Amino acid sequence: MSSPADPAKVGLRDLPKLVAIHRDAAKRRALLTRPDLTYLFWESTLRCNLRCLHCGSSCEPTSPVKELSPEQILSIVDTIGEDFDGKRIFVSITGGEPLLRPDLYDVIERMSSCGMGSCIVTNGTLLTPEKAKRLVGAGMRTVSISVDGPEPVHEAVRGQGSLKRTLAGITAARESGLAWVEAITCVRPANLSLFGEIEQMVRDAGANLWRLITIDRMGRLSGQEAPEMWLTPPQVRHVFDFIERRRAELAAAQDPFDVRFSCGGFLGVQRELSVRPGDGQCFAGLCVASILCDGRVSACPSLPRSWAQGSALEERFSTIWYTRFRDYRELDWRRTGPCASCSWFSVCMGGGLHERLAQPEAFCWLDRQVE
Ligand SMILES: C[S@@+](CC[C@H](N)C(=O)[O-])C[C@H]1O[C@@H](n2cnc3c(N)ncnc32)[C@H](O)[C@@H]1O
Ligand code: SF4
Ligand code: SF4
Repeated sequence: MSSPADPAKVGLRDLPKLVAIHRDAAKRRALLTRPDLTYLFWESTLRCNLRCLHCGSSCEPTSPVKELSPEQILSIVDTIGEDFDGKRIFVSITGGEPLLRPDLYDVIERMSSCGMGSCIVTNGTLLTPEKAKRLVGAGMRTVSISVDGPEPVHEAVRGQGSLKRTLAGITAARESGLAWVEAITCVRPANLSLFGEIEQMVRDAGANLWRLITIDRMGRLSGQEAPEMWLTPPQVRHVFDFIERRRAELAAAQDPFDVRFSCGGFLGVQRELSVRPGDGQCFAGLCVASILCDGRVSACPSLPRSWAQGSALEERFSTIWYTRFRDYRELDWRRTGPCASCSWFSVCMGGGLHERLAQPEAFCWLDRQVE
């Protein structure tokens, strides 16, 4: 594990990275006044066939709200296709478990006919070869499947018997002809020493992308310390060291398998662009929006529901996008607390929004790397 060096320290050899980081930040700041929708989440349902202990959406077999009907979601997609350039929008269909919606294929087909690319984020347990082929036939481009470790570690949070079906889902996705199949791992203390094994397992199953994310105190973990789900600073550094090393090794070997970190805020000059490409920070409300399962419109489904900006059942989606979202495009409230005197504020803009709201005392990734 690396020593707790100051993650914000900049040396001479970091200068090219610093230039790239400032260039990316300038692009992000420009979106505050000129938002540009390019990434849409559709929270297809809050129902799920699993009941993971860490579920950030508190999913259960039944939904707590009245979800969009097939006609309603198709009509919302149509208005988005009319009001925006669909070819510039990628839709990530998440949940809950998207494969529980029988109309999933029709909705993907409609998105495709509006020019939108799409993927589903799934636990993979219901993804048979037939369903994978139907998804591809409807125009879906990639799939992301959650794998949290070898059997005992994965199933301790996701339930007995789930891993085999999830890995079979990855294989079905790859064999259906999808060029990109991504595995997502929620890193927690129990899987920290198992990264090599997890990489081999997801590669063997057919994944060619692997995203590591950290667990936030939201949904079922809301308000809990949950030390078994939370990483200490040395553990965060361990994750970054691993990803940095693997990205360098894979690049040197010209191996197309991609490993990356994916969580909201600024990671410091040493880690940015080493553990992920340049567009890794939070774009909620700037180029990212979401349609929640009941038709409300928000920035991403991980935010508290109070951050929704209206309902696409009552107004056109584009009206909500262009006339609301004020707090998302406003920096003053973010320049408070630890961010008030931070010299990186213009680059970070106050951290990843859902992380800031889920754990206000521990959202800064510079702080999370040092004791
Ligand atoms: C809410 S799930 C919905 C899609 C699907 N059911 C699945 O599990 O992949 C979307 C992603 O969020 C991850 N996730 C779940 N709980 C989380 C939490 N508390 N913090 C961060 N990510 C979480 C899941 O592992 C999954 O990769
Ligand atoms: S994390 Fe995904 S699979 Fe697990 S309960 Fe939540 S929605 Fe279901
Ligand atoms: S203090 Fe705030 S603005 Fe500065 S790096 Fe941390 S989260 Fe970002």
